[in-house]
Amino acid sequence: MDIKGYSGSISEWSGDALAVFLNEEDLDGFRYLGEDIANEIGRRAAESSFKAKKDTTLWTCLFGRRIKHVFLVGLGKRSEVKLDDFRRAAALAVKQASKERCRDVLMALPKEASQDVFSAITEGAVLGSYRFTKYKTSAENDNNWNVEKLNIKDAGDDAIKEGLIFAKAQNFVRDLVNEPGNVINPLSLSDEAKKIAEESNLELYIYDEKQLEEMKMMGLLSVGGASKTPPRLIHLAYRPAEPIDKIAFVGKGITFDSGGLNIKPSDFMRTMKGDKAGACNVLGLMKAVSEMSLPFEIHGFIGAAENMPGGGAYRPDDVIRMRNGKTVEIDNTDAEGRVTLADVLSYASEQEPSVIIDMATLTGACVVALGEYTAGVFSNDDDLASGFLAVSRKTGERMWQLPLDDERLRKKIKSDIADIVNAAGRYGGAITAAMFLQEFVGEGIKWLHVDMAGTDNTKEEYGYYIKGATGFGVRTCLAWLRKKKEELL
Ligand code: BES
Ligand code: MN
Ligand code: ZN
Repeated sequence: MDIKGYSGSISEWSGDALAVFLNEEDLDGFRYLGEDIANEIGRRAAESSFKAKKDTTLWTCLFGRRIKHVFLVGLGKRSEVKLDDFRRAAALAVKQASKERCRDVLMALPKEASQDVFSAITEGAVLGSYRFTKYKTSAENDNNWNVEKLNIKDAGDDAIKEGLIFAKAQNFVRDLVNEPGNVINPLSLSDEAKKIAEESNLELYIYDEKQLEEMKMMGLLSVGGASKTPPRLIHLAYRPAEPIDKIAFVGKGITFDSGGLNIKPSDFMRTMKGDKAGACNVLGLMKAVSEMSLPFEIHGFIGAAENMPGGGAYRPDDVIRMRNGKTVEIDNTDAEGRVTLADVLSYASEQEPSVIIDMATLTGACVVALGEYTAGVFSNDDDLASGFLAVSRKTGERMWQLPLDDERLRKKIKSDIADIVNAAGRYGGAITAAMFLQEFVGEGIKWLHVDMAGTDNTKEEYGYYIKGATGFGVRTCLAWLRKKKEELL
């Protein structure tokens, strides 16, 4: 889809479809279309009692006219409309336009639209046209039409450019997370990193199982022990000429989580190809940062492993000496994410970034606590957390902070025979997992952990999401980086 700003007058535009975004207070906002068209649309709106409510559209076909179709797109009440409502509305509009076989579309927003709104509209349009059809051998007829040209009235080039970078990063993540475990394993994930490094001119370091042993990364090695494809540590780095800060991102990269010897029941094993979503976010964002001219050194770290049962598997009762010297007793091999992330967090800490943000599909307990549509956020720094959460409210990626200050709960990760244990019972499971990770974050480093179990994947179509991988989290990280740049410059 080719997206451009349009500064001409709507009455001079000709094409397949015009999408007019309306607030409930402004039901008449299409009057500028001229009397005859406006009257026709007005009649349709009255007939079908279209009220411009959120997530509603009204389609009118104008046979043989300069504009072939008009879509009214509801935004809801002006006082209540959020940035994400524009994304959803744009997604709905492109979906409808594709259904009506339109190629060339103009979107017209309410007059007060800001550049942030134009970015959101761009994102919504790109995210809303996402499909994953790679493995369909025959194209399903009504599902393969694409809008080719999208014009957004009065949108600035920079707003569109940013929207494109963000949405493309998210779609890239969705493509990668949607790939099954027989395609993406620690080795092929490393190949993806290689491609990104080449395309985006990033530094790349990949450590194989021999090197991991020398590096004493026994957590990552133990979890990956039973897989035919051995684990990898992936490190991507973006280094601008005169960096003013250093930031690290860490992603959980379990390419498939069977549970290991504590094998998952069938129903829970399904969707575990998505257990690499954190890692994919790191790849997606490293790809994007090179296009954003950020003044920070940015490092992306991924611990890639497949959690399988088998002769090489790590076991319950095992004690593992981790990279930072701490010992971990294994209570449950299905609590593997924290065991891999621990070593990667240690390694990332050694590079001395000021901030580490990790993303992980870490615990079912987080889904129990917050539901499937909200990610858990944990941090050792309240300002970092509140800044990140403020950004998430703009990106529409729902996040909610959970506490790390419960000293009685913290005792649950103590082990009788080692320093800490990798699973600490059902209650507060998302918190004890985060507390486990915290043991591996270097002194003085601001750290934020996003538990995105549940949000990485959706079972139902919603807004700009379709069934499958969501790519949740990557836009919030990018928007947080952009805000950080604006604050510092
Ligand atoms: N990858 C899972 C967490 C998960 C669950 C992600 C549901 C997405 C949807 C993780 O490795 C896991 O298995 N966690 C266990 C931990 C338990 C054994 C302490 C869990 O949440 O049940
Ligand atoms: Mn698991
Ligand atoms: Zn897992």
